[in-house]
Amino acid sequence: GGGVIGRYCDRPDLFPEVAHFHTMRVNQPSSKFYTTEVLKQLCDIWEKRGSGLTNMHGSTGDIILLGTVTDELEPIFYELTHDMKMDLGGSGSNMRTPSCCLGKARCEWSCIDTQDITNDITHEYQDELHRPAFPYKFKFKTSGCPNDCVAAIARADCSIIGTWRDKIRIDQEAVKAYAAGELAPNGNSFGTGPSAVDIQKEVCDLCPTRCIDWDGKNLKIWDEDCTRCMHCINVMPRALRTGTDTGATILCGAKAPILEGAQLSSVIIPFI
Ligand code: HEM
Ligand code: SF4
Ligand code: SF4
Repeated sequence: GGGVIGRYCDRPDLFPEVAHFHTMRVNQPSSKFYTTEVLKQLCDIWEKRGSGLTNMHGSTGDIILLGTVTDELEPIFYELTHDMKMDLGGSGSNMRTPSCCLGKARCEWSCIDTQDITNDITHEYQDELHRPAFPYKFKFKTSGCPNDCVAAIARADCSIIGTWRDKIRIDQEAVKAYAAGELAPNGNSFGTGPSAVDIQKEVCDLCPTRCIDWDGKNLKIWDEDCTRCMHCINVMPRALRTGTDTGATILCGAKAPILEGAQLSSVIIPFI
């Protein structure tokens, strides 16, 4: 069933210590927030009943516990669910463990409550998470805004991405402050400190739909042509913010096939 990936050594006679080395996937909390207490408890179970090796986290998001024997599987499952109120994640042809970005817990750009959505999907589809019923795996991922920090658009069969349908909020004074070099562009992610932004070159000319005008004093966005790519907001986060009429775009069908390269998902519902 879901969350246990069985591994047996072909030569247990030569390598008795790793005759079994099963992986367990444990469903991470939404956005991967823990208390120290929970982490200690998890490590205690795994030191006692498994190898003690962990991978925090797998690329799908699970807590990956590496290496245990068949006899320990049920006791671990019991202790996880009863003592810790945690559950196994998905594997095989299941619905896989849903994952999301930090969302409203930490990020001012989040247009939706990603944690709530992920928690809801996890509970709604318990059966599909635990019992392989499909011909192939199925993944849900949720990002709070089009920056898409969980790369839902490239990795999930169903991607839920926060967006807005009104206007980008503009603080014209802060735009001037970026132009004058009083603020650090890109939230200082390039370590430049306060430095002048060439707004025409670095913002307007890089807008994919060229829907921004800057006359040296005033920034104008033609919101009806904006594709919500987040570029301008990322460059000048103190000046520009996502709108307030927020919701989500739902997309389907991303795949990471071995031969033909990544396929991005397609929009099914533009705004909900
Ligand atoms: C025995 C076979 C396989 C094993 C043991 C395996 C193992 C894993 C593990 C441990 C992860 C991380 C899981 C997590 O974070 O929860 C993972 C993720 C992934 N696997 Fe596999 N895998 C197998 C087969 C495949 C196949 C056949 C494909 C595609 C053709 C595939 C594509 C992927 C992709 C795309 C991810 C990343 C998903 C994401 O980013 O959300 N895997 N796999
Ligand atoms: S996807 Fe958007 S809302 Fe989520 S953490 Fe990234 S920037 Fe913030
Ligand atoms: S979010 Fe992207 S498309 Fe929209 S105005 Fe800004 S740069 Fe242009």
